[in-house]
Amino acid sequence: MRIAVISYSFTGNNKALAHKVAQALHADLIELAEPKPRTMGTIVLDMLLNRNPKALPQPEALEEYGLLLFSGPVWMGHVAAPLRPYLGYLRKHPRQYGFFSISGGADGGNAKLSGELHKRAGTAPVLLLDQHIAGLLQTDAASAPARKDTSAYRLTEKDVEALAGPVITACKQAM
Ligand SMILES: Cc1cc2nc3c(=O)[nH]c(=O)nc-3n(C[C@H](O)[C@H](O)[C@H](O)COP(=O)(O)O)c2cc1C
Repeated sequence: MRIAVISYSFTGNNKALAHKVAQALHADLIELAEPKPRTMGTIVLDMLLNRNPKALPQPEALEEYGLLLFSGPVWMGHVAAPLRPYLGYLRKHPRQYGFFSISGGADGGNAKLSGELHKRAGTAPVLLLDQHIAGLLQTDAASAPARKDTSAYRLTEKDVEALAGPVITACKQAM
């Protein structure tokens, strides 16, 4: 079965994770590119207005794969907007898919992700793994990292190694 890791990343964290996972699974890596530079303003507008911004390649590029693993940040509790057209493609072209992310996690988990994926793709994911920067930064139970700390954090190579392990294990179980 051919596997694709479909990666979107704004500041590079999910890109680094997606690269590592794709390499370990011998999957093709499809990196989404947006025609216009992404800004904080368009992130907020896309999320508030529930927009489906187009990126390249076209979703039809996913046709040849049996398992699709989406990777990207969580924005305002939801899957990053540039991944939406690809999840929507699955409604008419159903197949197994999963989603993994390294998100901030400063406000706790992202409880709506599972329902959102199901709604957008038409079926439940075979794998959903949302790991948190807050978990990497937290040194003791009394001092939870703030949103500004998690947002500014960029993964180290050691972080990527540690975060990729559970994703690879879960993917292998789902295959
Ligand atoms: C506008 C914005 C909103 C965000 N909202 C959330 C959120 O709701 N939950 C969360 O866990 N992280 C949230 N984050 C943090 C990102 O998911 C996190 O920084 C992620 O690692 C960025 O991934 P990237 O480097 O691949 O773009 C948000 C970040 C931005 C810029």
